[in-house]
Amino acid sequence: MRKDFGKKTIITPLPVVIIGTYDENGVPNAMNAAWAGQVDSDQIIVSLSKHKTTDNLELKKEFTVSFATKDTVTASDYFGIESGRNVNKIEKAGFHAVKSAYVDAPIFTEYPLTLECRVVELQPDTEGYLLIGETVNMSADESVLTDGKIDLGKVEPVMFDSAMNKYRVVGEVVADAFKEGMKLK
Ligand SMILES: Cc1cc2nc3c(=O)[nH]c(=O)nc-3n(C[C@H](O)[C@H](O)[C@H](O)COP(=O)(O)O)c2cc1C
Repeated sequence: MRKDFGKKTIITPLPVVIIGTYDENGVPNAMNAAWAGQVDSDQIIVSLSKHKTTDNLELKKEFTVSFATKDTVTASDYFGIESGRNVNKIEKAGFHAVKSAYVDAPIFTEYPLTLECRVVELQPDTEGYLLIGETVNMSADESVLTDGKIDLGKVEPVMFDSAMNKYRVVGEVVADAFKEGMKLK
């Protein structure tokens, strides 16, 4: 038996991306966004309501995208339930921001994997904006590399479980992509 849920949509896994921006005074801000994905090899797309972050994006047209991890889950959730309009979230979380060498946006050293991006489009829609960004650089802490490659087993990114409002760790390797299906070809 299958149960119908109607129009309810669950895409899985949804990432938990942390969008880093500076405001007009150079104050760093971070927000949590789960309605995000990748288009082409170097573009990301995020569905956004109006936030301090979208004000900053309109101003600077540059941002970073980091990935919430098992070790950073408390701060990462906090970045999604408090606004930079009210408080300096970075200071409150005890996080550290350094300016990206490629874009006018902060890299938070607590996150091991970060994309440095330019705004391609910030399209207003009925509920907010659709952000399309182009990655100009990706950087990763050496601690999450294996043989020079990014090892997601070491990053331990979390996904957003929108069915139960939980964060789950992404991790276990179960097969080789582009090879496993050869067993049936
Ligand atoms: C798990 C989670 C996912 C979220 N995903 C999004 C999202 O995809 N788009 C969005 O506009 N807000 C999203 N939010 C809400 C924002 O992160 C939140 O409104 C935040 O306070 C905005 O911060 P800012 O005002 O400092 O920019 C999410 C929050 C959580 C906790």
